[in-house]
Amino acid sequence: MEREAVLVAIDVGTSKAVALIGEVTASGALNIIGKGAPPSSGLKKGIVINIDQTVSSISQAIDQAERLSGYKLESAFVSVGGNHVESQNSRGAVAVSGPRKEVSREDVARATEVARAVNIPSSREILHVLPRGYTVDGQEGVKDPLGMSAVRLEVETHIVHASGTAVQNLSKCVQQAGVRIDELVAAPLAAAEAVLSDTEKDLGVAVADIGAGTTDLALFMDGSPFHTVVIPIGGANVTNDMAIGLKTSLQVAEDLKVRHGTSDLRSVQPDQMLTVETIGDEAGRQIAQADLAAIIEARMRELFERIGDEISMAGHGGVLPAGVVLTGGAAQLTGAAELGREVLQMPVRVAAPAGVGGLVDNLLNPAYSTSIGLLLWGAHAIIGAEPGRFESAPAYGTFGRLRDWVRNLFP
Ligand SMILES: Nc1ncnc2c1ncn2[C@@H]1O[C@H](COP(=O)(O)OP(=O)(O)OP(=O)(O)O)[C@@H](O)[C@H]1O
Ligand SMILES: [Mg+2]
Repeated sequence: MEREAVLVAIDVGTSKAVALIGEVTASGALNIIGKGAPPSSGLKKGIVINIDQTVSSISQAIDQAERLSGYKLESAFVSVGGNHVESQNSRGAVAVSGPRKEVSREDVARATEVARAVNIPSSREILHVLPRGYTVDGQEGVKDPLGMSAVRLEVETHIVHASGTAVQNLSKCVQQAGVRIDELVAAPLAAAEAVLSDTEKDLGVAVADIGAGTTDLALFMDGSPFHTVVIPIGGANVTNDMAIGLKTSLQVAEDLKVRHGTSDLRSVQPDQMLTVETIGDEAGRQIAQADLAAIIEARMRELFERIGDEISMAGHGGVLPAGVVLTGGAAQLTGAAELGREVLQMPVRVAAPAGVGGLVDNLLNPAYSTSIGLLLWGAHAIIGAEPGRFESAPAYGTFGRLRDWVRNLFP
């Protein structure tokens, strides 16, 4: 299959920095041709707290991906995580211009501009202004108003914004690692690209990417996002609680969590004992698996309650018929879906990225949803040519060139 474009994703997480190189074929298929995912340092809860360490983590990821692919990485789609990512919905209305009173691209752009003019403090950087739907002369629920005869056009948008300084620090690190930024993408929306189906997005669904430092949450209804937020709780909190509760090191706690941890108390045998290496007593001591599970369950319950609060506050009566899709490294915890179902009283499934080819060993794992989602985001942007998507992208780098290429295809 002929290669149409090469896209790059960079996801700098709290536990690992990922660089992926993917080729998009003419039919829209995505093949991974390079990857690097070294452990990261320099971030806390998804936010850069040490520039040098973060640059070095990104550089390592890039080196590995370049060596594997033989491709020189120039520009990338970059995820933005951290608890400073927030969203709001805003409407914009304009009178349809032009003598024939048909909705043009320009009318759509003007309406979106009005919606964007909502009061957002100057300390915030707008990442996305995504059109959710249009109202054309009072007729709601129009997905594509282009060419419709109308007097008044109204757009409902979902605006995702982030702390300006946090975004600048992240951008600085990526640029210092020698890579230009095609587009900054909110991490929850990138994860959604990788694991949610169109049907789920239409029905109403949430994706929760449970990472090491944070949980990225995005809620969808009628095909588009309506609430995007990052909750500052992740798998590292669970490990930390265990280390404190069991008086052991973070490494021992992490290993214990991955091998014997569960958040489903009902699945634990009451008499099951485990040996734990304690600080000052390397020979180890016996603890009940039920005690371990109790520590894990308490933190995971807190996380699911926070997810539940966000879902009830976000609107649509707190009802998401397709439930919650868990992904991210920490979604692999045994019993995560079971506890999620109990706390949220909704369908809950755990998902890994799918539908990509090439060098996918280890990548079809929940921990890579955000990075694969970034590539899919880029691929959709060049093939789908949705209104609004291109408008927010800088006119440089691979993406700028691809955009021009798409515009030539769809005049
Ligand atoms: N099998 C497993 N069971 C339970 N937890 C796991 C398992 N494998 C990985 N984890 C947890 O997943 C977390 C890492 O997830 P991930 O790689 O998605 O994080 P990240 O992207 O680096 O961080 P963030 O997105 O929060 O900045 C760690 O806390 C780790 O303990
Ligand atoms: Mg992550």
